[in-house]
Amino acid sequence: MLHMQAAENSQHKIREINPNSEEEISLVAARMRQTLVEVLGEEKGTSLYSMEWLLGRVRWHLNSNLATAKIFLIEDDNCEIVGHAIARIDTDSDERRFGYFSTVFIVPAYRKKGLARSLLLHVEAWLRSMKMQKIAYNTAENHSQLINLFEKNGFAITHREGEMVQLSKHLS
Ligand SMILES: CC(C)(COP(=O)(O)OP(=O)(O)OC[C@H]1O[C@@H](n2cnc3c(N)ncnc32)[C@H](O)[C@@H]1OP(=O)(O)O)[C@@H](O)C(=O)NCCC(=O)NCCS
Repeated sequence: MLHMQAAENSQHKIREINPNSEEEISLVAARMRQTLVEVLGEEKGTSLYSMEWLLGRVRWHLNSNLATAKIFLIEDDNCEIVGHAIARIDTDSDERRFGYFSTVFIVPAYRKKGLARSLLLHVEAWLRSMKMQKIAYNTAENHSQLINLFEKNGFAITHREGEMVQLSKHLS
């Protein structure tokens, strides 16, 4: 509730990435790397994917021939980009379409102000508009901030595999 009020009262704006902006594409790729470092540690986080691979991954999401996806950016009142969220439409093993929410990131100085929650609600609204009945998000089983964030917004752990968990939510 407090976070909801903080988000409503602040000047944060959510918009889609500019697909023609190399600066925004590079920023999101760099923050995807920062996310890996925060979750997996410096060594594993930097060695898992090269910057080229991460840049390619951002561009893949922006190519409508390859993916139905959105990259949302959240800005502060000076139009500085302080976070992002990436989601796409995917299909499960039974060929059913669902919303796959792949990542969310907020720069450290802006954390604990409800911004990730605002992005989560934005992603959820997009997936509802796309008539998805389910959203899934995969994370590490020890990523308590992320798990708390999703559980507080109606998600539950529905699958475990190794050290990973899948959080999901059915949309009515
Ligand atoms: C996880 C992350 C996105 C949360 O962003 P945030 O803007 O700080 O989150 P919010 O302020 O919207 O928090 C909403 C809820 O998330 C949970 N949460 C957020 N930060 C938390 C923390 N440090 N400890 C415990 N719970 C936390 C809480 O349930 C919180 O609600 P509450 O404050 O009412 O308890 C942010 O810490 C981050 O960018 N981390 C690095 C990137 C990352 O790990 N991304 C996910 C990869 S799988």
